[in-house]
Amino acid sequence: MNLEEIKEEALRDIESVKDLQELQSVRSKYLGKKGLVSSALKRIKEIPPEERKEYGRKVNEIKELIEERLKKREEELKKRELEEKLFREWIDLTVPVRGAVGSLHPITVTLERIVNIFRGMGFTVEEGPEVELEEYNFDKLNIPKDHPARDMQDTFYVNKPGYLLRTHTSPVQIRTMLKQKPPIQMIAPGKVYRRDDDPTHSPMFHQVEGLVVNEYANFRHMKYVIEEFLREFFQTDLPVRFRTSYFPFTEPSAEVDIGCVICSQEGCRVCKETGWLEVMGCGMVHPNVLESCGIDTDLYQGFAFGMGVERLAMLLFGIDNIKLFYENDIRFIRQF
Ligand code: DAH
Repeated sequence: MNLEEIKEEALRDIESVKDLQELQSVRSKYLGKKGLVSSALKRIKEIPPEERKEYGRKVNEIKELIEERLKKREEELKKRELEEKLFREWIDLTVPVRGAVGSLHPITVTLERIVNIFRGMGFTVEEGPEVELEEYNFDKLNIPKDHPARDMQDTFYVNKPGYLLRTHTSPVQIRTMLKQKPPIQMIAPGKVYRRDDDPTHSPMFHQVEGLVVNEYANFRHMKYVIEEFLREFFQTDLPVRFRTSYFPFTEPSAEVDIGCVICSQEGCRVCKETGWLEVMGCGMVHPNVLESCGIDTDLYQGFAFGMGVERLAMLLFGIDNIKLFYENDIRFIRQF
């Protein structure tokens, strides 16, 4: 083949490739080590000396032309492949549907799982507003104005004085005690807000609060309820431990750890090699909290607990980034 023929054939080949793989084989057919252009360059020895310069220039010119066309074609193909992918994966959210399509969000699945377990134990389900009174979110929970716990919870305040985005679901305890006489046995699932944003924290997340108030509620009852819940939730007889802790609204207070469900306590990244995972806070309701809601502490006592739903969902499903819950990528959601 002479140089002109190589050039013509190359341009035709490039024009007719249909995908990036074909493009790659055309590239090596011409520009590869044993390709037509490289071989043409090697033949320079056979050319009469006075024509060599011109010949070499010509080969290089063809080589550059082929490179340029290949690059252009590659860009076209990439663009087309992207367009086709977008078209294939496009979902028309406005199309009316018949029957059930899609699936429940993993947070919904987890919330329902939690709520069902507590319903089975005789708990009622209460709700409260997400824009909450500062008084219910802090004051009545025994968190005084100057208490460091108010800094602990980095709060979103709203323009209306005295209101905020609730930093936990604990104010629903207050609302329930204000409207209902004991015995009380309730949970409160819902959204909460904090100034937090990293792979394990989101500024909005979900909690489930629990409260039991009656004449005899004690720490052993609390332990039993929480252990039963966790074993039911994870469907295994996993180790549970209570660690002393501090919350202004409970005394004594504890944090609850479960044996790491990822590594079965062998030690891994998720449990930071400790074998334990913290899953909730709990304690005996502080008398100040009961009194702030007009409950007679000579007659009644209670226990409370609070857990993060995203954290439990991540452990249940083995998800390592909280952001996946909020991107709503259909390929993620469909797995649940
Ligand atoms: N409100 C706590 C938090 O957001 C969780 C909590 C801990 C709730 C102990 C409780 C409790 O009711 O007793 O971190």
